[in-house]
Amino acid sequence: MERTFSIIKPDAVQRNLIGAILQRLENNGLTVVAAKMLHLSAQQAEEFYAEHKGRDFYEPLVNYMISGPIIVQVLQGENAIAKNREVMGVTDPSKAAQGTIRADYALSVRENSVHGSDSPESAAREIAFFFTDNEICGRNA
Ligand code: CMP
Repeated sequence: MERTFSIIKPDAVQRNLIGAILQRLENNGLTVVAAKMLHLSAQQAEEFYAEHKGRDFYEPLVNYMISGPIIVQVLQGENAIAKNREVMGVTDPSKAAQGTIRADYALSVRENSVHGSDSPESAAREIAFFFTDNEICGRNA
């Protein structure tokens, strides 16, 4: 069993896509073991995306991520990191495979509806950024 971190981003929350997105994750063997809705501060968004600081999309990305509430989740399952990325599709929705969340719902490369950790190290960092151990309800991964 593996854990990964997922965000349902402002564009998707605003369009009432929370249920549709969670359904796809669950239908693909991922179990939600922690979840909460929050509205990021600029400081939180800047820190979460610090690795992208200096890139031309960084500032608009931060502004977008603080534009409305998000749902943050910990997902658990076999190969959860790769599975979540497969179900999401690639960052740019115009290049995402048919039937993926981003191909079906994302608005643009920035407003791309979901985030998923890209490695075990990112998953550990991102989960710890938003959740304490006792907020995670699954069996130990
Ligand atoms: P995410 O998986 O959350 O990781 C970084 C985010 O930056 C990405 O999804 C997009 O929302 C955004 N992003 C990445 N590349 C670009 C780009 N070229 N132009 C605009 N936004 C981008």
